[in-house]
Amino acid sequence: MRITSFAFLAGGVLLSAGSAHAQDAAAGEIVFKKCMTCHRIGEGAKNAVGPALTGVIGRRAGTFPAFAYSPLNKAAGENGLVWSEELVNEYLPDPNAFLKKFLTEKGKADLAQGVTKMAFKLPSEKERADVIAYLKKFSSPQ
Ligand code: HEC
Repeated sequence: MRITSFAFLAGGVLLSAGSAHAQDAAAGEIVFKKCMTCHRIGEGAKNAVGPALTGVIGRRAGTFPAFAYSPLNKAAGENGLVWSEELVNEYLPDPNAFLKKFLTEKGKADLAQGVTKMAFKLPSEKERADVIAYLKKFSSPQ
């Protein structure tokens, strides 16, 4: 409870959050430390091993400027993948499988080749819900 109230104070946008999972952006900030091996987030954040994740919720996949995406990630964006909370939640447990499934379901099995550069998996549902709440703080409300 204490942490949740802090999150509400910290990010006004969270007030509009209506999600099936209890999300906790403050806990998500701690989970995000795992992502920080490769990603930065926040105003003016730069690409690192991975693309900057500022504004990623609502952004078309594979489009952060000046990042050299894998053909797989780029093709998913070109074929309609726009990151929503739900899709990031489906993506994180197995990014490679998610992108291939997305392209295959779009009838683009020929593009579902190779591997994503995102060599990281986040299996915990709770950690995913929390980290997504944290990502949302850096995205425009949808
Ligand atoms: C070991 C490095 C690494 C870690 C750790 C990592 N990522 Fe990534 N991530 C990448 C790379 C590299 C890409 C680009 C993938 C590509 O081009 O195929 C990426 C891509 C992404 C994308 C797609 C971005 C876009 O613009 O299409 C999202 C969303 C993402 N990562 C979220 C996360 C989150 C959330 C975490 C922590 C839970 C995380 N990543 C941890 C390296 C990492």
